[in-house]
Formats: sequence, structure tokens, C-alpha cells
Amino acid sequence: MSTSSRQPEHPIDPLFTRRWSPRAFTGEAISHPELMKCIEAARWAPSASNSQPWRFIYALRETPAWTPIFDTLVEFNRDWAHRAGALIVVLSRKRWIAPGYNEQRALPTHSFDAGAAWANLALQTTQSGWHAHAMAGFDNERLRAQLSVPEDYAIEAVVAIGKVADKSVLSEALAQRETPSQRLPLKAIVAEGRFAFEA
Ligand SMILES: Cc1cc2nc3c(=O)[nH]c(=O)nc-3n(C[C@H](O)[C@H](O)[C@H](O)COP(=O)(O)O)c2cc1C
Repeated sequence: MSTSSRQPEHPIDPLFTRRWSPRAFTGEAISHPELMKCIEAARWAPSASNSQPWRFIYALRETPAWTPIFDTLVEFNRDWAHRAGALIVVLSRKRWIAPGYNEQRALPTHSFDAGAAWANLALQTTQSGWHAHAMAGFDNERLRAQLSVPEDYAIEAVVAIGKVADKSVLSEALAQRETPSQRLPLKAIVAEGRFAFEA
């Protein structure tokens, strides 16, 4: 599936429009070093006070770590994510000991910072010839229990990493949706000086 229909309004690096979230994956296994390269990019994301609240729990396909994560996906996501090469659970730490303090304090930016890390991960994944597809469709409490995630960590998303396949591997309904999405125009999301966005 081509991303050539994605035309930016201003010239940007093509990597940004080449990144998209396919559901048709080949089932090819990703190697540990290749996966670590994607997570390495996430590690270099910016965060408030360099708090780095992101954490990643991964499972390569056909390893024992796969099923406890995969089983918590909603059926809609299981239908396509079973062809991913790896699953990554993105977590964020909600409290930390800030510089100059002795006790734990809330880290209000934990999700924002983890989002920056996910974006880095997705872009590096595309750059490496794979694709990343984030999912919020999973049973959060079950996943927390399965992976023994402490209460002071939020489970932000599960990310499927895979090699893009032809959309014919998908069900008819999913195949129809398998096309890179478009974006709101710039004028609808940016305003100068006050809250005034065009429809
Ligand atoms: C936090 C988050 C949660 C998402 N949850 C799901 C999901 O559960 N299932 C799914 O198929 N896609 C999911 N997506 C994919 C989005 O639908 C997709 O990123 C969006 O439509 C933009 O398309 P693009 O990523 O191809 O540019 C999710 C994306 C994000 C960032």
C-alpha cells in the first residue's frame, strides 16, 4: 500500500508521511537487534526534566512472552495483530523523585513524554523497513495483572511491529480500511495568538 497519496502542505522529511499504521503484516519475525534499534530511538525522546518515564515490555512472536500480551487484545485487534513480528507494551511511570526532592512526586507529563517516545519508535521502525501500529484496544487491568505492572505505572498502549503484507491477508472488512489515512488541514489545527481554528 502506497503512502504517495499523503501530500504535506509544507516540505517535510518524507519519513513523516511514510509512517503509517498498517494491519496487514506478513508474520515475519523481527530479530532482537532490529527491535532494540526501534526502542533505542524511543530512548532519545525528550521528557520533562529528562524524567524518561517510558518503559517498554516486548514479546517476539512465537516466544513464551507473546501470549500473555496478545491474549489481552480486543478481538478486533487480535484479528490482524497475530501476524505481527513483535508486540511492545508502552508504559509510563506516574510518580518519580524529582531533582532536589527526597520523596516521590507526581509526574504530570508521564503520558505526554511516553507519547513522544512512541513517536520516535514508530518513525525509526518505518526507517528500518518495518511498521508500527499502536493499539489502545486491550484489557488494561488484565494486562497489568499478566505482566505484574505496579500501580504507579500507566499502561499507555500496545504496539504491533511487523513487515507490511498485501491487504489480501486481511478479512474483507479490514482490507477495505487498509489505506494510509489523511490529516486535518493545517488551518484547522494551528492558530496565531488565540483559540481560533478554521473548520
Ligand atoms: C494511542 C493509539 C491507540 C490506537 N488504537 C488502535 C487500536 O486499538 N486498533 C487499531 O486498529 N488501531 C489503533 N490505532 C491506530 C490509529 O487508528 C491510527 O494511528 C490513526 O488512524 C492514524 O493513522 P496512521 O497511524 O496510519 O497515520 C491507535 C493509534 C494510537 C496512537
